[in-house]
Amino acid sequence: MTHALALTMPLPTIIQGGMGVGVSDWRLANAVSALGQLGVVSGTGLDTVIARRLQDGDIGGHVRRAIEAFPFADVAEEALRRFFRPAGLAEGTAYAGVPMFRVGTNRFRDAFTVLANFVEVHLAKEGHGKSVGIIYLTKIQMPTQPSLYGSMLAGVDYVLMGAGIPREIPGALDLLSRHEPGHLKLEIDGSPDPEADVLSFDPADVGMGGREDLKRPKFLPIIASNSLATMMVRRSTGQVDGFVIEGPTAGGHNAPPRGKKVYNEQGEPLYGERDVVDLDQIAEIGLPFWVAGGTGRPGAIEELKRHGATGIQVGTLFAFCDESGLTEEYKRTVIREALDAPVHVRTDDRASPTGFPFKTVGLERSLSDDAVYAKRARICDLGYLRVPVRLEKGSVDYRCPAEPEADWERKGGESDATAGRRCLCNALMANIGLGQRRSDGSTEPPLLTSGDQLSEIGRFLAGRDRYTASDVIDYLLG
Ligand SMILES: Cc1cc2nc3c(=O)[nH]c(=O)nc-3n(C[C@H](O)[C@H](O)[C@H](O)COP(=O)(O)O)c2cc1C
Repeated sequence: MTHALALTMPLPTIIQGGMGVGVSDWRLANAVSALGQLGVVSGTGLDTVIARRLQDGDIGGHVRRAIEAFPFADVAEEALRRFFRPAGLAEGTAYAGVPMFRVGTNRFRDAFTVLANFVEVHLAKEGHGKSVGIIYLTKIQMPTQPSLYGSMLAGVDYVLMGAGIPREIPGALDLLSRHEPGHLKLEIDGSPDPEADVLSFDPADVGMGGREDLKRPKFLPIIASNSLATMMVRRSTGQVDGFVIEGPTAGGHNAPPRGKKVYNEQGEPLYGERDVVDLDQIAEIGLPFWVAGGTGRPGAIEELKRHGATGIQVGTLFAFCDESGLTEEYKRTVIREALDAPVHVRTDDRASPTGFPFKTVGLERSLSDDAVYAKRARICDLGYLRVPVRLEKGSVDYRCPAEPEADWERKGGESDATAGRRCLCNALMANIGLGQRRSDGSTEPPLLTSGDQLSEIGRFLAGRDRYTASDVIDYLLG
């Protein structure tokens, strides 16, 4: 399909927010898109997600079905040989990993990342012929280009990106749609010449490419300020097709408050007038936009349309529905507790290694309990949130404030930066039942995230203890 034709496709009223890791997986996105709204899969850590699903025996055969449609058979064969275990892993056996991302090409890792993104989008698009989106975090730099290429090989219709300023992504989408090599600026801590550091990806280096252009997906940056919207339109390397305007009550990571940091009694950062986006000003830009953060309620669509919005993006209500990737146990626990009393969601600006505030669910039971987490021995073996750092001797290393403190400090990190940090990479895998098993017999503990709206989910549940994506859409349109 050409770009021109793609632009004429009707815009969704509801975007089901991308929720990582694997909360908005292909099942949820497929269900939402089939119902005529926009389903969005999470693109974060998909290489590990797919590698672990294969090691768990690929129940239902979905991953293998998608892999069969992947155009590069040698990569598909190697992926299955390395990871597929028909009977699953013996109890307590650790998952084999995909090599952690580093600067420079690692042929298998890059090719497997392309394949993993292809698989998730392919499955989300199966059987309905409607649009599907994928979301990435700008902060996670190294997998971006192979991930985009994989989702485009599967015909993804929308790419959304938040957690940073994705100024260079529109141009990267243009290049990748022609199978051409791309170069993004790479942020390296302590680099003497930031302009000189680039992250390159050439499909040909991993044995991929094609004669026909791929569809160039629409690009929607997720932003939390008027100035960022203007900047994205004026200074991006290619076309921006609209925005998601996300407020500080949204689930997952939030943009930090503007100005001087002020905290409430519980130590949560406080947001003020300066953090409110002027929607009428956004409307003047003339691009479609969707509003996220507490907009998952009946009437919100009409109200926001009066300010020029195209619709809403909703996460929290979809996160606990039957089709979401969270484990049954965690969904049931949250819903059960929410039916009893409002569940508190905490905005924690220490938990995430990114330094952005991150929302955590406070449950009576010990799912997100600090005490459980404190017993965990620090280990960094997934590494998506590692940031490259130029060491004094000039070489590049990688560090994360949630890794073992001694490693962080050896790489020049400040000692007070590690306190309170959670290994989100491992915890978020645990949320979807793919937690790593450790040699001491333990499994990685989860850390649930949600928007503030979870405290009001009782109104939507109306006594029900389970619901589907279709129930959410009916409620929002009703
Ligand atoms: C469980 C969960 C995980 C999320 N993960 C991400 C993510 O990985 N990337 C992202 O940009 N937004 C993420 N979000 C935000 C959603 O995409 C959406 O914008 C937000 O939830 C909308 O606000 P609401 O929760 O009030 O509906 C997440 C939200 C939830 C509830």
